[in-house]
Amino acid sequence: MATPEYTPFVFLLLLFQSGVWGVPVCQTPQESPTCGYKSCHATKPGMLNVHLVPHTHDDVGWLKTVDQYFYGDRNDIQHAGVQYILDSVVDQLLKNPDRRFIYVETAFFYRWWKQQTDDMQNTVKQLVNEGRLEFVNGGWCMSDEATTHYSAVIDQMTMGLRFLNDTFGHCGRPRVAWHIDPFGHAREHASMFAQMGYDGFFFGRLDYQDRNRRMVAREQEMLWRASESLTPPMADLFTGILPNGYNPPEGFCWDQSCDDPPIRDDPDLEDYNVDDVVTRFLHIAHGQALVYKTNHIIMTMGSDFQYENANLWYKNLDKLIRYVNQMQSNGSEVNVLYSTPSCYLQELHRVNLTWPLKGDDFFPYADSAHDFWTGYFTSRPALKRYERISNSYLQTCKQLEVLGGPISRKGPFGAGDSETLKKAMAVAQHHDAVSGTEKQHVANDYARKLANGWAHCQVLVSNTLSSLSGSSAPRVYCEHLNISVCPLTETMNVYNPLARPVSWPVRLPVNGTAYSISDAKGKVVPVSQATAAVRRGRGYAVNELLFQVQAPPLGYSTYSVSLLQNGPPSPPSPLPRAPTAVQNKVWVLWYNASDGNNSESIQMSGAYIFRPNTSTPFIISKTAKIETLQNSVVQEVRQWFSPWVSQVVRLYTDSRALELEWTVGPVPIGDDLGKEVISRLDSSINSSGVFYTDSNGREVLQRRKDYRPTWNLRQSEPIAGNYYPINSRAYIKDDKDQLTVVTDRSQGGGSIQDGSLEIMLHRRLLYDDVRGVGEPLNETSDIYPEGLVVRGRHLLSLSPPAMAADTHRPLAQEVVLQPSSMDFEKEFSGLQAVLPPAVHLLTVSQWDQDTVLLRLEHQYQASESKEHSQPVTVNLQKLFSTLDMLGVSEMNLSANQWKDEMTRLDWKAESGTHHTGVTNQLCLLSPLGCVKTADLL
Ligand SMILES: *[C@@H]1O[C@H](CO)[C@@H](O)[C@H](O)[C@H]1NC(C)=O
Ligand SMILES: *[C@@H]1O[C@H](CO)[C@@H](O)[C@H](O)[C@H]1NC(C)=O
Ligand SMILES: *[C@@H]1O[C@H](CO)[C@@H](O)[C@H](O)[C@H]1NC(C)=O
Ligand SMILES: *[C@@H]1O[C@H](CO)[C@@H](O)[C@H](O)[C@H]1NC(C)=O
Ligand SMILES: *[C@@H]1O[C@H](CO)[C@@H](O)[C@H](O)[C@H]1NC(C)=O
Ligand SMILES: *[C@@H]1O[C@H](CO)[C@@H](O)[C@H](O)[C@H]1NC(C)=O
Ligand SMILES: [Zn+2]
Repeated sequence: MATPEYTPFVFLLLLFQSGVWGVPVCQTPQESPTCGYKSCHATKPGMLNVHLVPHTHDDVGWLKTVDQYFYGDRNDIQHAGVQYILDSVVDQLLKNPDRRFIYVETAFFYRWWKQQTDDMQNTVKQLVNEGRLEFVNGGWCMSDEATTHYSAVIDQMTMGLRFLNDTFGHCGRPRVAWHIDPFGHAREHASMFAQMGYDGFFFGRLDYQDRNRRMVAREQEMLWRASESLTPPMADLFTGILPNGYNPPEGFCWDQSCDDPPIRDDPDLEDYNVDDVVTRFLHIAHGQALVYKTNHIIMTMGSDFQYENANLWYKNLDKLIRYVNQMQSNGSEVNVLYSTPSCYLQELHRVNLTWPLKGDDFFPYADSAHDFWTGYFTSRPALKRYERISNSYLQTCKQLEVLGGPISRKGPFGAGDSETLKKAMAVAQHHDAVSGTEKQHVANDYARKLANGWAHCQVLVSNTLSSLSGSSAPRVYCEHLNISVCPLTETMNVYNPLARPVSWPVRLPVNGTAYSISDAKGKVVPVSQATAAVRRGRGYAVNELLFQVQAPPLGYSTYSVSLLQNGPPSPPSPLPRAPTAVQNKVWVLWYNASDGNNSESIQMSGAYIFRPNTSTPFIISKTAKIETLQNSVVQEVRQWFSPWVSQVVRLYTDSRALELEWTVGPVPIGDDLGKEVISRLDSSINSSGVFYTDSNGREVLQRRKDYRPTWNLRQSEPIAGNYYPINSRAYIKDDKDQLTVVTDRSQGGGSIQDGSLEIMLHRRLLYDDVRGVGEPLNETSDIYPEGLVVRGRHLLSLSPPAMAADTHRPLAQEVVLQPSSMDFEKEFSGLQAVLPPAVHLLTVSQWDQDTVLLRLEHQYQASESKEHSQPVTVNLQKLFSTLDMLGVSEMNLSANQWKDEMTRLDWKAESGTHHTGVTNQLCLLSPLGCVKTADLL
């Protein structure tokens, strides 16, 4: 039998830094005979089996902060207290061994667990070992799928799943991914879940037209082939759509927050309602069975923050099961049981059917004709950016924790850690966090948590640098260029978290007019009018010092900077060779947000929903005030369209991309019009209604205007219905040219006209869109009380399509993993050799005392690049410069299972494969010889 050619995109290993040669510690897990699939209740083959799944949906922050939700604080905002839910559920599970409960968000479970006595912890372990309490999904949170980057999602899943494995072992490993609330579903998420070893995936929200068609065709359960590059079944994920979002069927909500009648089963009393309840239930069950394929159906018995008083639910569910099943003696063929998503999944697997195949994704999501959830792709752009740079800093922090060793956590600068930022980042991936769909005070809380994480990492980074350099001089950070003047000491250091050398433009606010910089050409340019305006008197530096720095892989380099001349800035010289070619083709425009006063629908634009009230955006100004400058480092055209919109078109010498730096805000609302501001690039590219966007920063998907690959779309919103999430890049192309835009955060965008690509930058809205958040998206801050000002960058590259990926892949990684400037003395690289261009070093993180978690990925998609979509070999033994590698063992993507223990349920697809044939195989040289990925699977 031929060995299948597996082609992993992401590939993981544990390196053993010191200590014993660490062949995987693959002791057979102490498997309890009853957890997992073995703990499922029996079903009845000839009957319709109804799987009741008691569950609670606990947002890791939304209307209240994550802490308020945990404790049940601020119940005036929303009645919700997760600690009480877990207390109450455990108590109720103990009362009847048939009862089941699933728990999802490890961020909450972890807090609760820490506060329990040993006795209680043992009791809970027992429940888990018997499959009565089962973890599903199990990440730190239920991440957003439209606005997250794969690197941060993998990290947050790893953190939650590791806690579960450390605490419960084998029985704590979730078999099912459960994204019941996210507002649309990304293909890359499905691919990651498959590579994390999940057997199946369930969700609640998809486009209403898609859903209707799938109900009629009984295609609500399918096999998602989630990668064009991975050989099936590596990225295949069985995917099911839940029958009623994640709510119970109508009339069957028995939570304290619901008003449905309880089961009144005393026949001596007048209001006896058992017959009525049973009849209604059977009716619903039969109706549901018509739109699913098998004689098993699932019902989600729970909802947001339910089960705080679990007795109400369980008492009625016990009775429901008893009374419905009693009817079997009278010929009823319906069998109801307590179940879990994995028990339901197991039954679907047992029926041995073939399932329809899905190759695209579930964006955009509309729940009605004029209600497209495409606004949150851009909502809260400042938080989205802060989340993205925090990810970059976290990766730097984790790398320096490994390179520095124990001294990084307890060194001359005190106690530092990466944990705090890891947790803050994990919480920020939640589907009401980076998505921008939380209340303002909750958004502030996420940002505060991230800032606190930065502070802890800064101590760690200082300790490492001091240890590596042997100098304990205080470190100076110059990351926040909002400070008045960068405190330039003689040296300035740049750390590069990428596994290849990078060259990077640095801009420092300074007052002097001339500096000399070792090994680099530095130029001083005056601060632009727009920058001065944005500073609001907080910044006093009149100039910026620009220079290009180079840093080695996983390492830093030092630049000494000295002031040559102080004095008034020299006026900018007029620029003859400015990149004018572009400036006429880049527009900043705004859509007038619908206020609900509209004949077709009363839906307004809000935090979730994008609904312009006309398809034609307004041009802010046809003319711009222009300043130009040019020197040996950069050429700039500074465009000032209005007091609230400006842009710099910038080309650094030797750069592969043109930079558009946009500044938008405070968006005026004096005219009582909500505004959704876009940047639009118009080109002559013959794009024929097609454009491309990335999925969570990884593989790229094709999009077509007014079209969905799996159903005949009736388009009802010509703009919003053509918007897709852009996490790191989007492009349009024809035979000759490809225009790629790399973004610095997640944004929404579309290609409404051929040759044109638009990206939404900022939105300010005056109405709530009635999806629960209860606030208009009307951001202000202390510094900008009259409306938030946001600045960001787009990097544009134009190249022949066959070569485009060679530019935009590394470019996007550079934007995601940014070098950071810090004070340091010598040049240092943590790597002995540069990784091949096709390989991205995704994770370097301390795992246990002697082990390091390493993730390498082949970053090119199949057929994307002639040069780089090829098999590639990495020699692990010669990878790190400071670590001795003693052994390697491979894990799944989320590092909660050894690869050789990884078995997944196999599923059969109805039609042929969507697979395009692959060449991007990664081969690792290790002490075990060349470990072909195929051998390891
Ligand atoms: C079964 O049917 C009989 C006769 O109609 C009735 O008396 C009995 O109550 C029914 N049992 C249940 C569980 O409904
Ligand atoms: C599943 O169905 C296939 C035919 O499609 C059959 O060959 C196979 O034996 C079945 N497996 C089981 C476990 O029933
Ligand atoms: C600069 O930004 C940082 C981080 O957002 C903030 O803590 C600091 O207060 C800001 N400084 C000024 C002067 O605004
Ligand atoms: C920089 O120059 C500005 C304008 O001359 C002045 O107001 C400010 O105090 C200076 N800042 C520093 C740190 O020297
Ligand atoms: C939006 O914010 C501004 C500034 O705080 C405030 O004056 C205005 O009333 C707000 N509008 C709405 C609809 O919330
Ligand atoms: C999971 O936990 C078990 C029990 O503690 C341990 O033996 C196993 O090595 C862990 N798995 C991973 C991948 O860390
Ligand atoms: Zn939610």
